[in-house]
Amino acid sequence: MSTQSTGGILSHYADFYPPELQKQGYPLISLHEGNTPLIPACHLAEWIEKNTPTRGLRIFLKYEGLNPTGSFKDRGMTYAVSQAKADGAVSIICASTGNTSAAAAAYGTRAGLKTYIVLPSGKVALGKLSQAILYGAEIMEIEGNFDQALTLVRQLGETGKVTVVNSINPYRIQGQKSAAFEVCDALGNGKQAEAPDYLFIPVGNAGNITAYWLGFCEYYAAGKITQKPKMMGYEAEGSAAIVQNRVIDNPETLATAIRIGNPASWSGAVSARDESGGLIGSVTDAEIIHAYQLLAGKEGIFCEPASAASFAGLIQAAQRGEIANNQSAVCVLTGNGLKDPDNAIAHGAAKRHTLAADDGIDRVLDIIEKNKSRPV
Ligand code: F0G
Repeated sequence: MSTQSTGGILSHYADFYPPELQKQGYPLISLHEGNTPLIPACHLAEWIEKNTPTRGLRIFLKYEGLNPTGSFKDRGMTYAVSQAKADGAVSIICASTGNTSAAAAAYGTRAGLKTYIVLPSGKVALGKLSQAILYGAEIMEIEGNFDQALTLVRQLGETGKVTVVNSINPYRIQGQKSAAFEVCDALGNGKQAEAPDYLFIPVGNAGNITAYWLGFCEYYAAGKITQKPKMMGYEAEGSAAIVQNRVIDNPETLATAIRIGNPASWSGAVSARDESGGLIGSVTDAEIIHAYQLLAGKEGIFCEPASAASFAGLIQAAQRGEIANNQSAVCVLTGNGLKDPDNAIAHGAAKRHTLAADDGIDRVLDIIEKNKSRPV
């Protein structure tokens, strides 16, 4: 059986990619990435109405955690790995805070390419590490941060011995632009595609904000949409290089996915901000955790902490009066909550009870009674 696939973003949005990709013989490596839901967040919209001066905001969540390896990285990896295969590569390499490595290992394995990944030691969430291990990548843990890992990977790329699949690889950005198309198609609801007024997105290495902006611009140029959104990107405060306009040598944040002090696509993020009339801001770890809890506790949506930076940014912007009234906003939730079980357990709101095997129903009835008047 052929591993050639007809699913995934490169097939679905074939008009926005080179025709060679659809030709017989092009090694299209897909796990049917993309086509993730855009979920209306009515409870969060109510919360914003009650707790901020912003009125009539409609909120939608682009739930990228439902991609095959649990993050948006799959959109870029299908193209980068297919192209590496087409170009005759035998191995791929990436530096990663975790999600890129999981995606590279999955797509690399499917393509029959050896996958090397360089991770900041001790700073990768458990779910991501477990993925790379099971997919069978060659894992190197550096006693340094992501930026140092990426410097190493760039140098290795220059030797010509391995193909780099970080977002400095242009096929990654090209693949990831498909998420912007999906947002517009979903908002159009079967009719004319429509962009939101605002797009809120976490910023780490700044590839994704660059890719979304490219996608909106291409849809606009093709006449699919009549307006483009304001791009609202959010870094973690301890890693806010773009906001502070300087490289951060020792970036810190509990949102390890965006613990990056020298974003590779820095200029792409600045262009997206300036051309769209948006902003790049920063959110504290406390704001990220609050947003993470609200997403799970009010909408039943489990994302990883870095993803919650988008909604944390929305709360901040709504409180500061940076969003006009009666607008629509999409928050990109970049990764699945299961990626980072440690933070979920540390910051979850649940009360946990231990029962003896012979407690019977009385103890449970007692818990139910005590909770009767407690709000959900
Ligand atoms: N959200 C998640 C869950 C991520 O994994 C990343 C980046 C981002 C947001 C930021 O996206 O870098 O395009 O600005 N993760 C990379 C990785 C760095 O190695 O997995 P960005």
